[in-house]
Amino acid sequence: METSILEAREAVEAAGRVVVFTGAGISAESGVPTFRGSGGLWRSFRPEQLANPMAFSRDPRLVWEWYQWRRTLVRECAPNPGHRAVAEAQVRAAAQGSPDAVRVITQNVDGLHARALSEALAGKAHDPAMEPIELHGSLFRLTCSVCDYGQPRRAAVETSSRAALPRCPECGKLMRPAVVWFGEMLEPDVLDEAHAAAGSCDLCLVVGTSAVVEPAASLPRVAAAAGATVVEVNLEPTALTPIADIAVFGPAGETLPALLDGWAPDPAVG
Ligand code: OAD
Repeated sequence: METSILEAREAVEAAGRVVVFTGAGISAESGVPTFRGSGGLWRSFRPEQLANPMAFSRDPRLVWEWYQWRRTLVRECAPNPGHRAVAEAQVRAAAQGSPDAVRVITQNVDGLHARALSEALAGKAHDPAMEPIELHGSLFRLTCSVCDYGQPRRAAVETSSRAALPRCPECGKLMRPAVVWFGEMLEPDVLDEAHAAAGSCDLCLVVGTSAVVEPAASLPRVAAAAGATVVEVNLEPTALTPIADIAVFGPAGETLPALLDGWAPDPAVG
């Protein structure tokens, strides 16, 4: 094994409270295209051109068509060994009485962490602290574009005409995907919860993110400033590599099992 993986595993072994902060790279091995990778384009649009409120008010059907394409693509994907290694560590921590010892903070909207967790739990009840903090929302929830109404939705959205697009049952306006768009603020409660978790962990694993989109990209810095060890897992160096204590260059689906398999945080540490 490479020295950096051994060092990272030692850092994991010594940790009592862990934050796993993830981006599109953790889902790449499940077949979900990354944002800034070559598979991120749909027709000739970049995500930034469609994932914004202006695009939705100009042409909601086009934006919905893109999201429906992504929802279909992601529904066909399954959690990979990286997601599973994290979820299984959470289940082991919970079995030792520490359901919040491994917190997942994700920028991904693909729901794969939540699916991995529910598979690892195999139907057992669980503490809400085990749920991933989904900073940028979820493809599988809809929210009203005007009022606060929201609902889960895994079924397909009809996009054949503007009239067919989903409407809010409360106010009648168009529903939209419950994801954070460019130019929009993150939900303050969600961001606060993520800050609290990052500021109180003693190990922050940063996995598969280019760490360029704020405020999410600052969370590992919050952890580092509070004294946590920062371990980065990525295929290549990123904007965050200079602040990482250990950088492991390799695919998340191989690296995370090497770091986490069989391990549970020691409640006496942290
Ligand atoms: P990016 O597409 O910017 O970055 C993906 C990162 O994953 C890159 O650093 C890759 O090197 C790395 N990577 C790719 N495959 C990997 C693998 N198998 N194992 C490990 N690392 C791998 O995606 P994000 O950083 O998630 O925001 O992008 C952050 C945010 O920007 C997204 O949530 C989205 C986007 O604009 C919103 O939609 C608000």
